[in-house]
Amino acid sequence: MLRLYFLISLLCLVKSDTDETCPSFTRLSFHSAVVGTGLNVRLMLYTQRNQTCAQLINSTALGNLNVTKKTTFVIHGFRPTGSPPVWMEELVQSLLNVQEMNVVVVDWNRGATTVIYTHASGKTKKVALILKEFIDQMLAKGASLDDIYMIGVSLGAHIAGFVGEMYAGKLGRITGLDPAGPLFNGKPPEDRLDPSDAQFVDVIHSDTDALGYKEPLGNIDFYPNGGLDQPGCPKTIFGGMKYFKCDHQMSVFLYIASLQNKCSISAYPCDSYRDYRDGKCVSCGIGHMVSCPLLGYYADNWKDYLLDKDPPMMKAFFDTAEKKPFCMYHYFVDIVSWNKNVRRGFITIKLRGEDGHITESRIDHEPSTFQKYHQVSLLARFNQDLDKVAEISLLFSTKSVVGPKYQLRVLRMKLRSLAHPDRPHLCRYDLVLKENVETIFQPILCAK
Ligand SMILES: *[C@@H]1O[C@H](CO)[C@@H](O)[C@H](O)[C@H]1NC(C)=O
Ligand SMILES: *[C@@H]1O[C@H](CO)[C@@H](O)[C@H](O)[C@H]1NC(C)=O
Ligand SMILES: *[C@@H]1O[C@H](CO)[C@@H](O)[C@H](O)[C@H]1NC(C)=O
Repeated sequence: MLRLYFLISLLCLVKSDTDETCPSFTRLSFHSAVVGTGLNVRLMLYTQRNQTCAQLINSTALGNLNVTKKTTFVIHGFRPTGSPPVWMEELVQSLLNVQEMNVVVVDWNRGATTVIYTHASGKTKKVALILKEFIDQMLAKGASLDDIYMIGVSLGAHIAGFVGEMYAGKLGRITGLDPAGPLFNGKPPEDRLDPSDAQFVDVIHSDTDALGYKEPLGNIDFYPNGGLDQPGCPKTIFGGMKYFKCDHQMSVFLYIASLQNKCSISAYPCDSYRDYRDGKCVSCGIGHMVSCPLLGYYADNWKDYLLDKDPPMMKAFFDTAEKKPFCMYHYFVDIVSWNKNVRRGFITIKLRGEDGHITESRIDHEPSTFQKYHQVSLLARFNQDLDKVAEISLLFSTKSVVGPKYQLRVLRMKLRSLAHPDRPHLCRYDLVLKENVETIFQPILCAK
C-alpha cells in the first residue's frame, strides 16, 4: 500500500514536472512543414533571475523585462523540419552568463516551418513589423535604442536588418550569423541586412556556397575557414541531415564559443582568404588598434575604428579547429634554403611540447617556392598553443608520386608565435629535409 502511494506520488511529480509552467519554444512536426504554417510570433523573455524558465511577453505586457538594461533579441531562421533550433538554449544561457541583460527569444517557428523556403522568407518583413511594435513599447517605457542588440541567424539576420532600417540604423548592434543567401544574394541594401541597419553590424559567414550570403553585409564580416566548408562538417550527402546545415550552423557555434571565454578567436583583416593563408595579413596593428579583431560577442571592440573607415567595412579571415573551443594558434615558419635550383613543395610541421602534447600543421593550400638564400614565411596554424616547445618535426613534400625524390636544404628555420610575439623565437640551422621523411630536432633559441 505504501509502495503504491509512493508510486502515485512519483507519477504526480513526473506529471507536474512536465506541466507547462515554463513556456517553451514551439515544437512542430515535419507534417506541419509539409502543409505549411501561418505566422505566429512569440516572444520569450529570459533574465539572469529566470535563466531557464521563459516568460511570454508581448507589446502590451512587457512582463519582467527591465527596460533600463540591455536587451538582446535572438531571431532564428528557416525551419524546414519544425524542430526547435538545437543551439537556442546554449546561446541564451551563454549570453546571460556574460552580462546581466534581457534575452528575448523571437520564436516564429509558426511561419518559419515549411518545406518551401520562399514561404518562410516571404514572412520576414512581417516578423520585423511585429518586433518594431514591441520595441516601440519598450521605448515608450524608457528603453534606449542604444541598448538594443539583435542576433539574427540566417533569415533572422535579414529580419534584424529590416527592424534596424525602420529605426534608421539607430539600434545599438546587429550580429548576423550566416545571413541567408538564397533570394537575398544581390538584393539592394533595403531588402537585406546592411551596415546602415544599426550603429554596429558584425557578420559571420560560414556557408557562402550554399545557404549563406557571400558578400559583406556588415561593418565587419568574418569568414571562418574562408567562409565555405567548415572543418568537422560532412563533405558529402552521406553525412545525412548534417550535410545540409552543419556549415551554416557553425556560425552560431562559433559565436557561442566567444561567450564561453575558453579562448578568443582572433581574425585577420584581409582582402581574401588566400592572402590570409599566404601569411600576408597577419598584422593587426592598424591605427590605434593593437590586437586583432575578435570574433563574436566582443567584435565591437573594433567598432570605433571600423566606423571611422570609409567605407566603414572590413573583411576578416581566420581558420578554426573542428571542435570547441575552435581556436587556432598562428605561427610563422620562416625558412631560408640554399638549394641551387628553385624547389616547390609543401611543409608539414609538428610541435611537441615539454608536457608531451603534440600538434600539427599542414601548410598545403598551395605549394611554397623555395629559392636560394630567400626567406619564405609560411603561416602555420595549430589547434593547440604549446607554451614550451621541446621538439619540432618538419616534413617536405612535392606531393608528386612519380619522379625523383628531392631534398630541401635549409640554412635556417625559425618558428615565431603570432599571438605571443614576446615569446622566444625558436631556430634550427643547417638541415637537409629529404622528401617525405620526417626530420625531428630540438630547436634552439635564435641568434639575435
Ligand atoms: C520567471 O518566469 C515565470 C514563468 O514565466 C514568471 O511567472 C516569473 O514572474 C519569472 N520571475 C522572474 C523573477 O522574472
Ligand atoms: C499579451 O500577454 C498578456 C499576458 O501574457 C496576455 O494576457 C495578452 O492577451 C497578450 N496580448 C496579446 C495581444 O497577445
Ligand atoms: C532595473 O535595472 C536597474 C539597473 O540595472 C535597477 O536599478 C532596477 O532596480 C531594476 N528594476 C527592477 C524592477 O528590477
